[in-house]
Amino acid sequence: MPKLLFEFDSNRRFYRNKGLKANQAAPENGMRVILSESGMSEHIYNFSAGPAMIPAEVIAEAAAELASVRGSGLSVMEISHRSALFGEILEDALDRVRRLLNLPESYEVLFLQGGATLQFSMVPMNLLAPVDTAEYVVTGYWGKKAAKIASRYGEIKTIYSAEDKGFTAVPANGELRVSPNASYLHYTSNETIDGVEFDYDVDAGLIPVVCDMSSNILSRPIDIEKYGLIYAGAQKNLGPSGLVLVVIRKDLLDRSPRELPDLLTYKVLADNNSMANTPNTWAIYMLGLVCKWLEARGGPAGIDKLNEEKARLLYEAIDKSDGFYAGHAERTARSRMNVTFKLPNAELDAMFVKGSEENGMNGLAGHRAVGGIRASIYNAMPISGVKHLVEFMAEFARKNG
Ligand SMILES: Cc1ncc(COP(=O)(O)O)c(C=O)c1O
Repeated sequence: MPKLLFEFDSNRRFYRNKGLKANQAAPENGMRVILSESGMSEHIYNFSAGPAMIPAEVIAEAAAELASVRGSGLSVMEISHRSALFGEILEDALDRVRRLLNLPESYEVLFLQGGATLQFSMVPMNLLAPVDTAEYVVTGYWGKKAAKIASRYGEIKTIYSAEDKGFTAVPANGELRVSPNASYLHYTSNETIDGVEFDYDVDAGLIPVVCDMSSNILSRPIDIEKYGLIYAGAQKNLGPSGLVLVVIRKDLLDRSPRELPDLLTYKVLADNNSMANTPNTWAIYMLGLVCKWLEARGGPAGIDKLNEEKARLLYEAIDKSDGFYAGHAERTARSRMNVTFKLPNAELDAMFVKGSEENGMNGLAGHRAVGGIRASIYNAMPISGVKHLVEFMAEFARKNG
């Protein structure tokens, strides 16, 4: 395995790398860089579902200015969130999100805490009056959880559930029938655990669509104007954990009931530009770097083709394995971000995971709720990582099939 691409001096203030100039650091093939105490580094392809791989170039850039952000002599983690410098970092990150999502002025961008899980409560607390009904589409573990939590705050009607199919399917485009009286329609565009994904934006006409995009945000272009609110935990396609992105259509800000705590009220958070209290400054900074990285690759439209190709390679490996690898999702619902499959038995699953770790890969064990294998191939995963996995799969099947 290649070693020693990056080096830091003892106080980590200075960054050097072998044969590459600082700040333009790109390990040859975008592999994840691991820094050990000795300053040695080795490459590992990280297939973890989240917190997930962050682009190697972003890790290198953040490392290079860890102790002195933008040449200030201070770390981004030790400056005031009210400082001019952090103000610039925040505005830069907000602008990049606006550009990448092609947001009209009628939408507000919020950087919040509490993860996507808190949004399961905040959405109904703000948008659903106790006497009204919200409709939910349940295509996996997270959508089911969102619906269950929402039912504490008002009437919830599940208008589509794929639970009886073992969460292997999503509704066809146009299949959903949304009531004209619903307060909103909620769905999960990519189910991270089950590995099923919508390949279209759900259209509910005049009913606001709320979408949990935690695990496929910015992986393809979307028509944002179809949505009233989208949210995404940052730790898959946007940066580190501890930050959740919420994009909300401004007219919906007026729905929040007055008696909610400030930090749970979208309107208050929007009025305070995401700084009603001290925000996660580090995660916002990292999100800005990830967005910059994505913009340099053509944004969602640019990365879309690469994501398509990565997923195609993996599903082809599954489909051509004569049943040794069994994909979980129906073909029409296959996720491009989380590829879930099983080997003939749990013992082989475990051997596969162990073998993958010995071959420079990490995070391939399926979620504890479903078992099997899950390869998470978010935006940051280079195609070389997918090819490496595909080769390993072929070799493993040949030896154990
Ligand atoms: C689709 C989806 N929704 C919600 C969550 C929960 O996110 P958090 O742990 O940030 O609350 C996850 C986490 O993996 C997820 O994948």
